[in-house]
Parts: sequence; structure tokens; C-alpha cells
Amino acid sequence: MAETKDVDLMVREVEAADMEALADLMAQLGYETRASELQMRRETISANKHYATFVAVSKGKVCGMIGTFMCYTYEHNSPSARILALIVSEDVRGRGAGRALVAAAEKDLAQKNIRRIAVNTRFERKQAHEFYEKVGYTKNGFRFVKELPMPAD
Ligand SMILES: CC(C)(COP(=O)(O)OP(=O)(O)OC[C@H]1O[C@@H](n2cnc3c(N)ncnc32)[C@H](O)[C@@H]1OP(=O)(O)O)[C@@H](O)C(=O)NCCC(=O)NCCS
Repeated sequence: MAETKDVDLMVREVEAADMEALADLMAQLGYETRASELQMRRETISANKHYATFVAVSKGKVCGMIGTFMCYTYEHNSPSARILALIVSEDVRGRGAGRALVAAAEKDLAQKNIRRIAVNTRFERKQAHEFYEKVGYTKNGFRFVKELPMPAD
């Protein structure tokens, strides 16, 4: 459990009981999701040791989350990591929860000997770009996306 500069805010590992709150956060991120769907995703994710998920809690209520994934790459000998999801509830933004979540994820990755972390973010998430730069990330590329068709039988 990590403390933050806000005495009323702490970060801990995600728990099974957090799925309703995580579904609300996913909706705020633009992905309408039922708690039952998140429960299913969590079962897959928590069975894979390459994932890590932390939540921010304020006044006993989950108000943010971060999920990371560590992976092996073709370019480096040591594994790298990605931030797969980061969201802080609108009503607590600007209080340090985002920074605290990133710090908790980075500490966890550093303990796993990971020294490189990246995040993809949409062009329109301009606030997130400023946030990432504030917490030490450097813009160094673009992401290209393509939806693949279902394979023919
Ligand atoms: C991006 C986000 C996670 C930031 O969370 P937060 O809890 O509001 O951020 P913090 O309060 O920890 O801010 C940390 C630093 O970033 C800065 N920052 C945060 N939001 C900012 C913004 N919109 N513009 C400029 N700076 C910003 C803060 O000023 C702070 O700097 P300081 O510590 O020097 O004072 C939050 O705004 C969010 O959930 N946005 C919507 C979802 C999203 O875009 N997620 C990223 C998907 S890739």
C-alpha cells in the first residue's frame, strides 16, 4: 500500500471487489463495460504474472486505476513494459492520484528489473499528454492502428 501527498489518498493492488468501480472508470475512459465483463477480464489478467493492476482509493472509494503489462521485445535483452490503462475519476483529478498510480506501477516494474516503460495515447487526449510529460515521459513516436477482418472459414 503506497501513501501519496494527499493524506486521504492511497494506492493498493486491485481486489476482486473493485470491479463495479473499475467498470465506472472504464466508462469514463470511453469504454462502456459491465462489472461482469471486467470480472471475466480480471480472471484472465490476474492469471498472467506479466500484468499488474493498482487502484487509487479516496475516502474508502476506488477513484482511479492503472494497468501495466511487461513484455519481451526484439530490440532489447531485458523486458519492457507498457501502461495499458490509466484513469482517474473526474471528481478527484488534479489531486495527485494519477501521479501516485504511475509511481506505484513504476516501483512495481523497477522491482521486476524493468527499466523501460511506454504508453500509447490517442491524439485527442491532450490532457493526458501534458500529464505524461509532467511525470517524466517523452513523446517519441506515433501509433498506427488497423482493425483486422475476421478470418474466412
Ligand atoms: C491523465 C490523468 C490520469 C491525470 O490524473 P490526475 O490525478 O488528474 O493527475 P495528477 O493530479 O496526479 O497530476 C500530476 C501532474 O500532472 C499535471 N497534470 C495533470 N493533468 C493535467 C492537465 N490536464 N494539463 C496539464 N497538466 C496536468 C498536474 O498539474 C501535476 O503536476 P504537478 O505534480 O507538478 O502539480 C487524468 O486526467 C485522467 O484520468 N484523464 C482521463 C483519462 C486519460 O486520458 N487517461 C490516459 C489514457 S492514455
